[in-house]
Amino acid sequence: MAVEKAVVKGRVGLGVLLVWCVFIVWPSWRTESFAEYKEPAVSERTSGVDLYSYMGASSCSNSDCHGSSTARNKFRIGQNEYYIWAQKDKHAKAYEVLTSADAKIIARNLKIAKPEESARCLACHAVPASPDRQGSLYDITDSVSCEACHGPAEKWLDPHIRPGFDPQRGASLGMYNTKDLVKRAEKCLECHAGTGGKEVTHELIGAGHPRLTFEIDAYAYAMPPHWRPPQERKDREWLGARVWAIGQAAAFRNEIRRLMASRRVDSGLWPDFAHLDCFACHHAVVDRLRGITEQEKTEQGWRRKEYAGTPGRLVWNSSSYVVFRHVVKLAAAEEGKQLEQLLRVFHEGPAGKESSRESLQATLSKLSALSDRVVSPVARYTFTKQSVMSLMNSISGDGHRLAASGFLAAEQAVLALASLYDTYFETAGAMPSSQAIKDTIDALHKAIQRGSAFDPIEFEATMGRLHELLSKA
Ligand code: HEC
Ligand code: HEC
Ligand code: HEC
Ligand code: HEC
Repeated sequence: MAVEKAVVKGRVGLGVLLVWCVFIVWPSWRTESFAEYKEPAVSERTSGVDLYSYMGASSCSNSDCHGSSTARNKFRIGQNEYYIWAQKDKHAKAYEVLTSADAKIIARNLKIAKPEESARCLACHAVPASPDRQGSLYDITDSVSCEACHGPAEKWLDPHIRPGFDPQRGASLGMYNTKDLVKRAEKCLECHAGTGGKEVTHELIGAGHPRLTFEIDAYAYAMPPHWRPPQERKDREWLGARVWAIGQAAAFRNEIRRLMASRRVDSGLWPDFAHLDCFACHHAVVDRLRGITEQEKTEQGWRRKEYAGTPGRLVWNSSSYVVFRHVVKLAAAEEGKQLEQLLRVFHEGPAGKESSRESLQATLSKLSALSDRVVSPVARYTFTKQSVMSLMNSISGDGHRLAASGFLAAEQAVLALASLYDTYFETAGAMPSSQAIKDTIDALHKAIQRGSAFDPIEFEATMGRLHELLSKA
């Protein structure tokens, strides 16, 4: 079964999700926008959760604790968590990455002297702690270590190994509840999408940082997980679908919140460019007035593009919504209708002609409240064989809109289909026409290898083929 899983989700190799944009049609005002970054003072960075000290990864690495080199069966956990993290998980190298040649280029462009000492970079590439919150084994070079996700261990390190220790107790001692799927997703998104205070802005991307993209089920699989599946069968069933759906809800809410925050700090009507569709700006233009050849015309993507809004405007990167809306329809139909309406207004919004700053902000506030309200119905939603199948059906049947929403949306759709396919397989076994369906998902995966080569027409056609296979299944 593990092999089967690897075939689909594993194929959606995360390496391909980094897009290289090489073409740009804009005057260069790099000098202003890349103005010197001011490091926040340590006290400003210390948030309310950092009440306790960070004890360092070495506090967990004893072979009788989490540092066994093989999985054990003495307790519920394998005790090899540290080993898996140190050997296989990229998080263990996140600090080292800051000393790489790539990081040096980013730093040079941003006028940061040493990325490995910059609070801006360490915020996501390590567990920064103010001096009074550093336990004796704390080490900044530990990278994104245990306490980045599980919380500062000062108060829970000792009690957590005693019988009867539970998540409620843990939470009151500063342990982060990674078992709660909403909280788990929010934790990943803090660094993989950003939070107020730590962001991969367009400025960072322009300087050379990979753009961020995330889908928790595929990313957790790629980490790889150092935890075991839940013991109860009912908790294991359709787990991947639940993790995916909740991750989508959390990602959408995160996007709307950051969008609002970004608009507050910027002076223009539009938010940071990282919230917009990259390829709305980064595409080839055949810059000639007359005598354009037929061949050149085929290169002009806009001739065949379908605009959700008005042509020639900034376009919101709707990848956090266009796939998620299919779950909302199932789990929170009423909110779903309101979301559709608001987003129609919003789509024209970032630089829309009639929207004033105030009306756009009001729309965003409503969106924010709704994005909040859909989280719990999605988290409570009970998946079944039928609903997973019907989700795959409706996503694949939406190829036209997904393709028209651009590469980033297509990417989310493929990750979703891979995740749902795998979950189906794990919980209910092979679906009818399994092989053909898997092959088609693989073909879709090939279609999202390169953002600059994304062909919406071909993508839509492949989605159509998948839809046909699924509706017969
Ligand atoms: C909001 C969190 C965040 C901030 C801030 C951030 N990064 Fe990153 N960085 C990430 C994540 C997440 C990845 C991995 C992305 C992926 O693979 O999906 C990454 C990847 C990278 C990579 C590529 C690593 C590789 O394995 O190829 C480099 C280099 C990098 N970051 C350098 C920096 C530098 C330098 C800074 C500061 C100027 C910085 N980052 C700030 C989150 C962040
Ligand atoms: C990037 C985030 C992240 C990092 C870093 C991380 N973990 Fe985890 N860990 C998780 C998630 C998510 C789970 C699954 C949810 C759960 O079972 O609590 C988990 C589960 C566990 C579990 C199983 C808990 C249980 O009750 O089944 C143990 C033990 C654990 N982690 C220990 C560690 C140790 C030790 C380290 C450092 C070497 C570490 N983790 C680093 C995210 C992380
Ligand atoms: C404290 C910030 C932080 C948190 C929290 C975090 N990550 Fe990461 N993650 C990073 C950084 C930084 C990198 C890039 C490391 C590198 O390239 O060496 C990364 C890399 C990854 C990668 C490797 C991606 C690739 O390109 O191969 C995966 C997979 C991943 N994270 C999954 C997760 C999951 C799942 C969670 C939540 C359970 C999570 N991360 C939580 C910061 C974080
Ligand atoms: C509103 C238009 C717009 C959007 C949307 C946009 N960019 Fe940019 N991008 C620009 C401009 C303008 C520059 C600066 C060009 C220069 O300095 O010559 C730039 C520069 C860059 C650069 C530096 C390389 C270069 O060509 O200068 C990269 C990489 C980049 N953008 C990636 C992205 C990614 C990834 C996204 C989506 C997350 C994105 N951009 C969204 C307009 C945009």
